[in-house]
Amino acid sequence: MGPAERAAVSTVLEREYLGMGADTRAFEEELERYLGPRMSVTSVATGTAALQLAVQACGIGPGDEVLVPSLTFVSCFQAIRATGATPVACDADLATATIALDDAARRLTPRTRAIMPVHYAGYLPNVTGVYALARAHGLRVIEDAAHAFGGTRDGIPIGAEGDVICFSFDGIKNITCGEGGAVVTADPRVRQSVEDARLLGVQRDTDARYRGERSWDFDVTQPGWRYHMSNIMAAIGRVQLGRLDGEFAPRRVALAERYRRGLAGVPGVALLETAPGVVPHIQPVRILDGRRDAVQATLRTRGVETGVHYKPNHTLTLFAADSAGFPVTRQLHQELLTLPLHVDLSDADVDTVIEELARALAAPAD
Ligand SMILES: Cc1ncc(COP(=O)(O)O)c(C=O)c1O
Repeated sequence: MGPAERAAVSTVLEREYLGMGADTRAFEEELERYLGPRMSVTSVATGTAALQLAVQACGIGPGDEVLVPSLTFVSCFQAIRATGATPVACDADLATATIALDDAARRLTPRTRAIMPVHYAGYLPNVTGVYALARAHGLRVIEDAAHAFGGTRDGIPIGAEGDVICFSFDGIKNITCGEGGAVVTADPRVRQSVEDARLLGVQRDTDARYRGERSWDFDVTQPGWRYHMSNIMAAIGRVQLGRLDGEFAPRRVALAERYRRGLAGVPGVALLETAPGVVPHIQPVRILDGRRDAVQATLRTRGVETGVHYKPNHTLTLFAADSAGFPVTRQLHQELLTLPLHVDLSDADVDTVIEELARALAAPAD
């Protein structure tokens, strides 16, 4: 957060139109310009709301199944479940920690309606394979691109093409609105459904709200929530979007590149595969030989806070599935360690993390 974000919020506060309004629409239009001519953008309150409304907008609900990697934030599973549909956990690909498509294909049933691949750390390999599987089985693709905003694939922005793409703008994402999210699609029916469902299902209320008005005579034909984005949130997002390409994205890429170079020769560490154009949201690595927990504990004593993305959803009580079906996910969950990555890190900070990690690994294993 800088002075421009603070000034933008102050302007909204002074104007005293705090909820969804002209700033929200302006942010959506700027996102649409950023992503190119094919897609419409509907902003919402969180990335989780984006996923839930996307699933609902595809007409998916009770009795339907959605393929999703087990190794993802629990929001994917909760978003699917909130529609009444069943999340079907899939195993992961070891090199990228993304959905294993061969495993997903094995879990297809007549009730499968969609696949929700996750751009893990900003990278989703084999997008062609995802869409080929979807086409072959009549599935919708709902991309969880919460980690991927600002990235490109073959020079094309993530979100500029595809079926339905969901972003998160929560407090630690590549850009933030404080909290926030967006559903991006070229499908007008999906757009209309999300627009209405984010405002309690009130039909076609959005345009009135953008003019600072309300609809008093309306119908409701689908479930809806208060999932819209406020002017306050949008004002922050507009400033952040303006800072992305010149400031945040190159900094994240440079920090990740510094990690990759510094960790390349460190024994006991394996890097995940990535690709040019990825703007990484997190910096996960694999710690081999069963040493992850010990290394994480040592780093903590040295003042280096790390994370584990993610606890597999099939191990959670609500979403429990037979763990024998997830060998790669299990391995990754034991190995993955997320190192610090944010735009306020200095090069020296990254070097310190690399040094501390190498030192922790050089210590004799218990
Ligand atoms: C992979 C993934 N999906 C979905 C979300 C949900 O986004 P939000 O926190 O904005 O609800 C997140 C956010 O942390 C995420 O990391």
